[in-house]
Amino acid sequence: MDLFEKLNKLKEEGTEKIKQADTQKKLDEIRVNLVGRKGQLTEILHSMKEVEASQRPKVGQKVNQLRDYFQETFDKAKEKMTQAVIARRLEEEKIDVTLPGRKGHVGSMHPINIILDDLESFFIGMGYKVVQGPEIETDHYCFEMMNLPKDHPARDMQATFYIDEENLLRTQTSGDQARVLEKHDFSKGPLKMVGPGKVYRRDDDDATHSHQFQQMEGLVIDKNVTMSDLKGTLEMITKHMFGQDRKTRLRPSYFPFTEPSVEMDVSCFNCDGKGCPICKFTGWIEVLGAGMVHPNVLRNAGVDPEVYGGFAFGVGLDRFAILKYGINDIRDFYTNDVRFLAQFRKEED
Ligand code: PHE
Repeated sequence: MDLFEKLNKLKEEGTEKIKQADTQKKLDEIRVNLVGRKGQLTEILHSMKEVEASQRPKVGQKVNQLRDYFQETFDKAKEKMTQAVIARRLEEEKIDVTLPGRKGHVGSMHPINIILDDLESFFIGMGYKVVQGPEIETDHYCFEMMNLPKDHPARDMQATFYIDEENLLRTQTSGDQARVLEKHDFSKGPLKMVGPGKVYRRDDDDATHSHQFQQMEGLVIDKNVTMSDLKGTLEMITKHMFGQDRKTRLRPSYFPFTEPSVEMDVSCFNCDGKGCPICKFTGWIEVLGAGMVHPNVLRNAGVDPEVYGGFAFGVGLDRFAILKYGINDIRDFYTNDVRFLAQFRKEED
């Protein structure tokens, strides 16, 4: 076979191989094999010495033409392959812009926090400061400082979770009173504070009881604070929360840290005072405890009860939320079912 024939055959075979290559890698291998330094074309070039001198330029020209031809064919094949890859990706990553968008999930405020925020602003507006005591409280602040010594029978009403002899999950936020009272500098003005937070009691959970609930403690101490200041303040709170129409009443009560002590009831939201299972047919629902601060509480904190005095109150935030939103199971606050919580979503959320 002379060289011309060889070159023609190589052209045919090479073209066919390039056509069949289906990856860039294969294409590169074929290229090296055909036009590389040790490839088939170079080999043919090396055998030029066997060709008659007069024929050599012609063969040389033919080899060069073939090299150009192969190069061009490779480039085209490569370009075709790149286009195919792009086309496939475009197809795979196609986005249908006409589909409706996916909305991100927006949470909502917990109803108790809505009440809490609202009450905090209300009290801040009246010049109170907001404090926060620890949920794991000491026996000292939760009870001793609040006029409940170790053997006091009223401790039984607040059975709770003790961590050890001296530390417990607080049964009430009243310890905040003592913590603030101890530190307050009366030369700088009267003390007005609210202390919201979680409290715990060893209770069996049912529709109206929860072993965990939330309170907001309130304390006002100054010279010449009277019971009518307390009554006026409590009425402002309940009217702010439940509207002008709801009736309130004070009942005498007992707390070791206040004397006299009262409980405040609000007319039942469900039956409007007529009597129903929710208010246990009394027409009233208890919402808070309060009273004039006991001299011992002041004395324990180093404040002279002959000079200073005032009132304290403890609001049940769960009760407030139950009344405000007409919720009939307190456990709904703590199971965090989004279907329950989503009902409190505000429009702007
Ligand atoms: N600490 C009382 C309770 O948990 C409520 C209260 C607070 C009563 C402040 C009087 C004054 O029941």
